[in-house]
Amino acid sequence: MPSSKAVKFANKASSTRLANVISSTYDLPALPCTVVVCHSNELKKSECSAIWDIFEVNMRELYTPSSFGWNPESKRKELFHSLSRFLLVYKTGDSNILAFVMFRFETDYDEDIIYCYDIHVSSAAQGLGLGKKLLGELVKLCGEYQMERIFLTVLKANQRAAKLYKSIGFTLDPTSPGYVEEGGSMEDVEDMDYEILSKPI
Ligand SMILES: CC(C)(COP(=O)(O)OP(=O)(O)OC[C@H]1O[C@@H](n2cnc3c(N)ncnc32)[C@H](O)[C@@H]1OP(=O)(O)O)[C@@H](O)C(=O)NCCC(=O)NCCS
Repeated sequence: MPSSKAVKFANKASSTRLANVISSTYDLPALPCTVVVCHSNELKKSECSAIWDIFEVNMRELYTPSSFGWNPESKRKELFHSLSRFLLVYKTGDSNILAFVMFRFETDYDEDIIYCYDIHVSSAAQGLGLGKKLLGELVKLCGEYQMERIFLTVLKANQRAAKLYKSIGFTLDPTSPGYVEEGGSMEDVEDMDYEILSKPI
C-alpha cells in the first residue's frame, strides 16, 4: 500500500526530531536510564549484536514451537530493515542496552499507524516499568506524527506481554485471527497462535 503524506513525513524525520518528542531519561528507583532514538542505519555493529542477543534470549523458546518458527535470517531482515526505528534504553553511564522497541511508521488498511514490531526488556530489567514506558513513548510519537493507531502482534502463549498490552488499552484488531464481528459466527473464525492488537490514539 502506498505511504500517505503523513507516513512519508514521519519516515523522513531525523532521530533527533523523534528524540525531542519522547523522554530522554527515566528515573526508576535505583536504575536511572537514558533513552536513545536510532534509525536502523545509525546502529553500531555492537548495538545490532546486543539487540539480537536480547531478542534471542527473550523469544527463541516462544518462537520455536509457534507458527512463526525460529528463523534468524528473516527476523534479522525485519529487525534491521531500512525503515526500522529504535528506542534504546541504557542504564545511565553504561553501554549495555537494557531494553529496546523497534517500530515503523506505515500505512496499513488505509490508516496511518505505528507498527510496534518488537519490544524487549533484558531479563534482569523486566518488571521495573520499562516496557510500559516504551509503549508510552510510541503513543507520544503517534500523536506528534498524526498516526491513528498503534499495532502489534503477540503470541497467545506470551500471556504476560498480552496482559500488559490489554491493561493499557490495546484490543483485538478486526484484522486479527480470532476476531469475531458483532453477530458473526465463531465457525468462520480463523484460529491461530497469535493475535493482532491495536490501540487507537
Ligand atoms: C513484555 C515486556 C516487554 C514488558 O516489559 P516490562 O518492563 O517487563 O513490563 P513493565 O515492568 O512495564 O510492567 C508492565 C506490566 O506487566 C506486568 N508484569 C511486569 N512484570 C511482571 C512479572 N514479573 N510477572 C507478571 N507480570 C508482570 C504487570 O502487569 C505490569 O503492570 P503494573 O505496572 O500495573 O504492575 C518484557 O517483560 C519483555 O521483554 N518480555 C520478554 C519479551 C517479550 O515478550 N516481548 C514482547 C513480544 S510481543
